[in-house]
Amino acid sequence: MSGQASIAERAAALRWYHTIDLGGGVVTDGWFDLRSLVGRYGLPERLEGKRALDVGTWDGFWAFEMERRGAEVVAIDIDDTSDLDWPVRRRPDPAPPEKRGEGFRLAREALSSRVERLALSVYDARPEVLGTFDVVFCGSVLVHLRDQVLALERLAALSNDLIVLAEPYDRRAGWLPGAFSRHLADRDSSVVFWMPSARTWRRLVWSAGFDQVDEKARFSLRDRSSSFSVRHVVVHGRKAAAT
Ligand SMILES: C[S@@+](CC[C@H](N)C(=O)[O-])C[C@H]1O[C@@H](n2cnc3c(N)ncnc32)[C@H](O)[C@@H]1O
Repeated sequence: MSGQASIAERAAALRWYHTIDLGGGVVTDGWFDLRSLVGRYGLPERLEGKRALDVGTWDGFWAFEMERRGAEVVAIDIDDTSDLDWPVRRRPDPAPPEKRGEGFRLAREALSSRVERLALSVYDARPEVLGTFDVVFCGSVLVHLRDQVLALERLAALSNDLIVLAEPYDRRAGWLPGAFSRHLADRDSSVVFWMPSARTWRRLVWSAGFDQVDEKARFSLRDRSSSFSVRHVVVHGRKAAAT
């Protein structure tokens, strides 16, 4: 597309995960429109002077939302699809060519955003590389990972206060006593390795090193055409205040 193309034309040429208002009457045609659900996630209203991390940012909806609230935001995601976690029988060979991050870059430009996006797996996200964050936001990422425990431990090491975790949960696993997860790797249509119950998510967050863990909300996330919905739970974890 030529350098003369408008934001609207460039947005129309991309496939979007997030519905994002780019300004000037341009709204991306996202697979998921989270705008009416933002209040359910319990993000602090004011984030001036805070650092925030958005994990698995895709088109950047949450990164831009935290920046709008005043935070300095770093966003991470994977650029090469072969670096995603795949069950061995489902790993595409060769990995499909896909230019990832184009929607994010266009939205960043349209919103005159300063969010820094890094091509980095959560497994490699360490304080030595990124520093630490007042708010770590992780939405619908961990169900796609083979090692949710390691990812949460990485996020705990990056956090100096609050993690906001919003993930799909398995309702039936929650009927069992104890903390259960459903193994789905070769059965789910998108790659979901483990689907914990809401209780299991709370336990995982605590085990990773967050001392105060609270469930904030449960809701269903519908896709654009309402052809399916996914139950989500929002869990907040906080580190104990240093004495
Ligand atoms: C279902 S989307 C969620 C997008 C966004 N976080 C939200 O809540 O709307 C999952 C995102 O996680 C990213 N992702 C998957 N594995 C990752 C990993 N190991 N490290 C960082 N991001 C990862 C994917 O590339 C994708 O952008």
